[in-house]
Amino acid sequence: MNQPIGIMDSGVGGLSIASVLIKKLPNESIIYLADSKNCPYGEKSKEEIYSLTKKMVKFLLKSRIKLLVVACNTITVASIDRLRTEFGQIPIVGIVPVIKTAREKTTNGKIGVFSTTATANSFYQKDLVNKFANDCSVLNLGSERLVPLIEKRNFESVDEVLKTELEPFKKAQIDTLALGCSHFPLIKDQIQRYLPGVLILDSSNAVSRQIQRILKQNKTLSNSTNPSYNFYTTGNLNALRYFAEKLTNKAKLSRISLQ
Ligand code: DGL
Repeated sequence: MNQPIGIMDSGVGGLSIASVLIKKLPNESIIYLADSKNCPYGEKSKEEIYSLTKKMVKFLLKSRIKLLVVACNTITVASIDRLRTEFGQIPIVGIVPVIKTAREKTTNGKIGVFSTTATANSFYQKDLVNKFANDCSVLNLGSERLVPLIEKRNFESVDEVLKTELEPFKKAQIDTLALGCSHFPLIKDQIQRYLPGVLILDSSNAVSRQIQRILKQNKTLSNSTNPSYNFYTTGNLNALRYFAEKLTNKAKLSRISLQ
C-alpha cells in the first residue's frame, strides 16, 4: 500500500522526524506540512492552536494519508487527545521528550529537559517528568526565542541565545538532556558545543519505531521502490527548502494556503 505518511509541525522542526523516517522506512512516501506562516505556536492559546491544527489535518487527509505524525511537542501537549477524538479514522502519533530514556541513561541522576516555554510549563510535560523521573533531579526549562530564529536560519543569534539559556543546565551539572521541541534537533550540534559531554536525546528514533510498529500491525507498510516526498509550507519556501533538501534530493516543495 503506497498511501503517504503525513507529518505536520508549526514549522520546519518536524523535518527532524522526517529525516529519521526517510532513513528508517525508505519505502514510505511522505507528505510534510509546515504552518510556518503562523509559527511559533507556543505563544498561542490552546483554542487557536487547535483551530490551526485542524486545518492542517484536513489538508493532509485530502491527500489520503494512512497515518498522521504530530511532529510538534506544542501541538501534542495542547491538542493530541482532541485530535484523536475528532479524527479517529487514522492513527495519530504525537511527540514528547524521551524522559524515560534519559532516566535510564543518566549516571549522575541529573537530567535536563529543553522545550518551548509553553511545553515546559504544561501539566502534560510536568506529568511526564513526575511519571518517569521522579527519583532524579530534573531541570525542565523552556525557550521561546529559538524557534523563530531557526525558522529564519539565523544560526548566529541561535548561538547567542543558547549561550545564556543553556547556562542553568551547565550549572545544574546535568549529564543527559532530552529535547522537547522538534525544532531543537536541527541545532543539536550547536547545543552540544555549549554542553560538551552531555548526552543529548531527541525523540525521532522513538517516534519512528512507534510508526513502524503501527504500520506493521495495521498491515499498511509500503513496499514501494519509488516513494515520493512532498513538502508544503504556508510560509517562506526558502526555510523549508534549506532543511528539506538536506534530507533528500527528491523533495518536491510547494507553498499553500490553508482554508
Ligand atoms: N516544533 C514545535 C515544537 O516541537 C515548535 C513550537 C512552536 O511553534 O512554538 O514544539
